[in-house]
Amino acid sequence: ELNGAITIVVLGASGDLAKKKTYPALFRLFHYGFLPENTFIVGYARSKMTHEEYLDRITRFIKVKGAEEDIEKFKKITSYHQGQYDDDKSFQSLNDYLKTLEKERGIDVGKRNRMFYMALPPSVFIPVAHGLKKNVYAKEGSTRVVVEKPFGMDSASSKHLAQSLAQCFSEEEVYRIDHYLGKEMVKNLMVVRFANIFFSQIWDRKYIDSVQITFKEPFGSEGRGGYFDEFGIIRDVIQNHLLQVLSLVAMERPISTEAEAIRDEKVKVLKCIPPIELSDALLGQYVAANGKPGYLEDETLKDKNSLTPTFAALVCWVQNERWEGVPFILKAGKALNDAKVEIRIQFRNVAGNLYKGAARNELVLRVQPEEAVYIKFNNKEPGLSYHTIQTDLDLSYHSRYKDLEIPDAYDSLLLDVMRRDHSNFVRSDELEAAWKIFTPLLHKIDGREGVKIENYAYGSRGPAQLDGFVKRYGYDKSEAHYAWPIQKVGPSKE
Ligand code: BG6
Repeated sequence: ELNGAITIVVLGASGDLAKKKTYPALFRLFHYGFLPENTFIVGYARSKMTHEEYLDRITRFIKVKGAEEDIEKFKKITSYHQGQYDDDKSFQSLNDYLKTLEKERGIDVGKRNRMFYMALPPSVFIPVAHGLKKNVYAKEGSTRVVVEKPFGMDSASSKHLAQSLAQCFSEEEVYRIDHYLGKEMVKNLMVVRFANIFFSQIWDRKYIDSVQITFKEPFGSEGRGGYFDEFGIIRDVIQNHLLQVLSLVAMERPISTEAEAIRDEKVKVLKCIPPIELSDALLGQYVAANGKPGYLEDETLKDKNSLTPTFAALVCWVQNERWEGVPFILKAGKALNDAKVEIRIQFRNVAGNLYKGAARNELVLRVQPEEAVYIKFNNKEPGLSYHTIQTDLDLSYHSRYKDLEIPDAYDSLLLDVMRRDHSNFVRSDELEAAWKIFTPLLHKIDGREGVKIENYAYGSRGPAQLDGFVKRYGYDKSEAHYAWPIQKVGPSKE
């Protein structure tokens, strides 16, 4: 479909996201032969930069070993074009520049394929969309527009953004990135659920007691205090990343693996979730400990009395036949004791009194680090004893799959954009449904209406109230002594 040629414009090329994620992903796709032969990448931003400064900036985070030769080749297919974000003249000049490049590369006007990657601050998002549509849109050929969060702050601002974007581009042209949808284990969720008869049969309120989706990061907002304070942990990772995971865990079986079939089911299940109640929320903010500064001591933070949560545990209720009464607990925190993302599905107690008190089964999908799927299950203690002990059926990727290479989420998503596959991108009605679940709660937090923020120490497990909170929703930690023996067989990650 691309006829072997594409021009990729990275808007916000001087920013952090472009440098750390977009360019390294484009490079890896180039290096492994996934970019069309005739690809050219143009960086666009307001900063003045020489060609050398640009090349240095965009290659600084490329970590592929033994790829020096390809890095030199990659440098030859990219250049920088400086311009403003709210000025037609700048965009016309960008268009002229693209046209010259396309002509030089022998691309027919009718066969232009342009991809606009908007790695931009929210304040310039709308003017850029209009500027692109008016001046740089490939009227003949194809256009792809990749957008990055934040997609607004609440339902109203997100709607405004969606309307502005829809004035410029069709839904088919737009790819809203939620990079969690590009992660290996998240992409695996549908396969685990729908390609295994034993899971598909027990995936409901009759067998499942609770679902927990957990995100833990061992570092605070350091250096990003400005951004973070405005958004907070709920907007930063829960409303998007964790809710996306929830929708894949909870949705009904799509009628096919087509993008729209999947997205239809995701929207449907999100619409079954009423707004989260404040009484179903535990919020926290980290304080100094272990020689690490508290959130309020972050130099980049403007409001030194900020009440922005850096930790939240929120419970969603999916009100449909499959899930009524099953709590979906979304937990996320910065400056915790661990770096870990996992989905934990706890099953109900086995009925009857044969093995009363046996620990509950749990299915755990470890998203990162060290991807794994394991089931905590009960087994007779080997030997002369008849004790029931808890052990696991364990699919640890690094020990099971030899020469394992898990692609970065961005590599996978950018390839999807090239292939026009929308399965792993957020549709506009999906975004709307997602904001509805969080907006009332966020407004209460922003307005400080009866909201309590618990302190927790930097490097701890979160607020002291956490264990009691999850217990309230039925989570049974009776097998606390059991710990999954993490397998670190594979190459250690950077
Ligand atoms: C981003 C958030 O979307 O996701 C960050 O803005 C967070 O605050 C990051 O650190 C986590 O992504 P990953 O891929 O490192 O788990």
